Amino acid sequence: MKIGIIGAGNIGSTLARKLVKAGHMVRIANSRGPETLVELAQETGARAVSAREAVQGVDVVILSIPFAKLPELKELIAGLPDEVVVADTSNYFPIRDGQIPAIDGGQVESLWVAEQLGHTVIKAWNNVLASVLAGKGQAEGAEGRLALSVAGDDQAAKHIVMSLVEDTGFDAIDGGPLAESWRQQPITRAYCSELQADQLHTALAVANRARAPQLREEMVKEFVALGDKITTEDIVRLHLAASAKG
Ligand SMILES: NC(=O)c1ccc[n+]([C@@H]2O[C@H](COP(=O)([O-])OP(=O)(O)OC[C@H]3O[C@@H](n4cnc5c(N)ncnc54)[C@H](OP(=O)(O)O)[C@@H]3O)[C@@H](O)[C@H]2O)c1
Repeated sequence: MKIGIIGAGNIGSTLARKLVKAGHMVRIANSRGPETLVELAQETGARAVSAREAVQGVDVVILSIPFAKLPELKELIAGLPDEVVVADTSNYFPIRDGQIPAIDGGQVESLWVAEQLGHTVIKAWNNVLASVLAGKGQAEGAEGRLALSVAGDDQAAKHIVMSLVEDTGFDAIDGGPLAESWRQQPITRAYCSELQADQLHTALAVANRARAPQLREEMVKEFVALGDKITTEDIVRLHLAASAKG
């Protein structure tokens, strides 16, 4: 497939690397321009382009930028044909994104994103840590392969993204419609918990929406308290501890 990725950080660059390896044609963009992505392009085999070029003539657009910046992409995304699949990897963290009243008031994050962009989105790869995405994917059928859930309203688009999730080394399970995508948001049991498919189905089913924002804030405070000393192991440990309570 032809895939455009906007966002070349932890998640976007890892997806580029994996999707090129899986045989896809990948373009990648950031906010500063393709000249800042020369090394990444050489290393991954993805083509560095502007954000505008990243969405032109592709089958799938993957958005992997900080949540609060997504509305900046409205002009690029709203005009895309309906059949272009738009996948969203984002999570809302008020400490990074600022408070967004609509979400604090109860709107599901991905519904807010779709509204801001003027195009429906498929929620995927948001509930895996970048280090796990990079290091723990396995071939289809491998013992203990981890699973990721994919949520969205357009079934055909969702199945395309599920096949891309499989290409990145994870079993893909259907996380339901966008209105239910809070089940795979911070901090639920389905969020960054490194589960296999049957466990992930259960985690989605028992997700507790009421507790998630409070648990998310408690976890972020622990991140901040660790400051520069924070390690990947700390991040994984704190995510697992928080999501186990969710
Ligand atoms: N890190 C994780 O473990 C993880 C796990 C799951 C989901 N997520 C979610 O995935 C998203 C990306 O996370 P990340 O950790 O990969 O972020 P990151 O490392 O901070 O990278 C963000 C990328 O977005 C680009 N960007 C920002 N604003 C842009 C704009 N207006 N137009 C084009 N590009 C723009 C940045 O480009 P410049 O550098 O040029 O500004 C950068 O390449 C976030 O919503 C995050 O919550 C992250």
